[in-house]
Amino acid sequence: MIILEDIHKVYLRKNVETTALKGVSLQVDKGDIFGVIGYSGAGKSTLVRLVNYLERPTSGKVIVDGQLLADRSAHELRQIKKDIGMIFQHFNLLESKTIYQNVAMPLILSKKGKKETKERVTELLAFVGLSDKANSYPNELSGGQKQRVGIARALASKPKILLCDEATSALDPQTTQSILDLLKKVNNEYGITIMLITHEMSVIQKVCNKVAVMEEGEIIEQGSVLDVFGHPKHATSKNFVQTVVRTEIPENIKRKLAVREVTTLTKLEMVGDHATEPVLQSLINKFHLDVSVVFTNMTEIQDTTLAIWYLQIEGKESDKRAAWQFLEEQNVRYEEVTV
Ligand SMILES: Nc1ncnc2c1ncn2[C@@H]1O[C@H](COP(=O)(O)OP(=O)(O)OP(=O)(O)O)[C@@H](O)[C@H]1O
Ligand SMILES: [Mg+2]
Repeated sequence: MIILEDIHKVYLRKNVETTALKGVSLQVDKGDIFGVIGYSGAGKSTLVRLVNYLERPTSGKVIVDGQLLADRSAHELRQIKKDIGMIFQHFNLLESKTIYQNVAMPLILSKKGKKETKERVTELLAFVGLSDKANSYPNELSGGQKQRVGIARALASKPKILLCDEATSALDPQTTQSILDLLKKVNNEYGITIMLITHEMSVIQKVCNKVAVMEEGEIIEQGSVLDVFGHPKHATSKNFVQTVVRTEIPENIKRKLAVREVTTLTKLEMVGDHATEPVLQSLINKFHLDVSVVFTNMTEIQDTTLAIWYLQIEGKESDKRAAWQFLEEQNVRYEEVTV
């Protein structure tokens, strides 16, 4: 759906060059809710603005829905852009227009008829739960309601892709949750592919199926949310993941292990049903291993559970080997870790 290939972006302002993107490649598939996370200045907004050609790459390819944007005429680009909606942190509503007029604006601009416009706006206001606010003005709405208007407006021209740049960053946690639920509904009911930028890992955890972690203009890690949350590789990804899932052993437990001269543990990672299956019971009963749980953490991600266990396992080598075989058959990821 969206392919970025080796993108470099250099801004030139008053003879000062800023390199915002340094060789970024990624692929967003149809139906994805693809999250991009990174600290301020990492290049996230630049990246997402390439997709609807608000920014042009200095080099590299931007391919949207099979079309290489650089090859398209201005007219063709306008058509492609109609397939891409965008919402923003500060909503960007027209303060002097009613909610109805704000949502209708893209339709008016593309010269749709009055009847069609009315039907579409009515449908969209119902979809985002604001039917009763059609005649209100933006300054009469809460932040969450304003973002709902932003979403309705972005959906007006029936886009295939929705870009969200920090769409929940100005909202409290409860309102954030309701907007994320709405984005999930947009994805489910309209089949719209979503690319979402955030600096909060909890946002990624709640709605995304894939994630890319950015730092200083580069994607330092990307993959399925379950993979990246389960075993982040890069230090920055680990920092982000630690804000919502404890994948590392807490320091106080490490100190106790040091006193007991324990240096190796087995880390198990279980997803979904496995998380609740009695895998540990099997290790003890079936393979006669002596298992003590050192640390465990369970987290809800999307609609499944990610469980991480750190175990101290003693027993015969042959029993351990049989147990590892069993874990593999159960699709439980395991690794020996040094503490
Ligand atoms: N229009 C511009 N002109 C010059 N430099 C820019 C422009 N837009 C962004 N930059 C620079 O490019 C780099 C990346 O900026 P970008 O806005 O993409 O980061 P970001 O990850 O979205 O940050 P934030 O989380 O603060 O929104 C920064 O160093 C920024 O100063
Ligand atoms: Mg930004």
